[in-house]
Amino acid sequence: MKHLIAPSILAADFGNLAKDIEMVNQSRADYLHVDIMDGRFVPNISFGMDIVKVMNKHCEKPLDVHLMIVEPEKYIEAFREAGAEIITVHYEACPHLHRTLQQIKATGAKAGVALNPHTPVSVLDDVLENVDLVCIMSVNPGFGGQKFIYRTLHKVEKLYEQIITRNLSTVIEIDGGVGLQNAESLLKAGARVLVAGSSVFKSENPLDTISRMKDIGKDTLMV
Ligand code: DX5
Ligand code: ZN
Repeated sequence: MKHLIAPSILAADFGNLAKDIEMVNQSRADYLHVDIMDGRFVPNISFGMDIVKVMNKHCEKPLDVHLMIVEPEKYIEAFREAGAEIITVHYEACPHLHRTLQQIKATGAKAGVALNPHTPVSVLDDVLENVDLVCIMSVNPGFGGQKFIYRTLHKVEKLYEQIITRNLSTVIEIDGGVGLQNAESLLKAGARVLVAGSSVFKSENPLDTISRMKDIGKDTLMV
């Protein structure tokens, strides 16, 4: 199956958000990845649902909302109303993950779970059937522009094997330090959605970078 590209708006120019979103509209990107940080789950604060609402107004692509917040269950409906198509919560922030996933699905959004670099994929064994998307964090969440943690490649492989063995439709997203240099190996390992912040927005020609990322593996991969 063809892979998907999700530029992360965290790396955009916040003084020209509408312009950067328009670039994403014109591009071959599939989603807009939106990082929500609360200064508690992660040591950084980004923005809240009012900004997401504005992004949704300008953006023609589905919003892939990544909640790096404690007690995400308090805000799921609000982010759905703001325009989220996919809502991803962190495993580490959800003592009642099964319930939280049902809550996301009840809003009509797709339900995602993100795993920090230190969290093994096996923690999802008993809920995988209920998960539309697993976001493997390949950096410690909180900041854009960090270095890809190589070990996470094995997590993608391991999870992909589970998904295939159990014949599930769960897709694997990889988030952090992703760019043209490692995209092909990530796709080979089983990733289906590539989140790319700095590698897109800080590149000379973001439109072209997205396009090249989209074409990666088109001759070599059977996906
Ligand atoms: C990190 C965020 C990422 C980030 C990726 O906490 O979840 O989505 O924006 O940025 P890059 O691609 O620059 O690592
Ligand atoms: Zn993210």
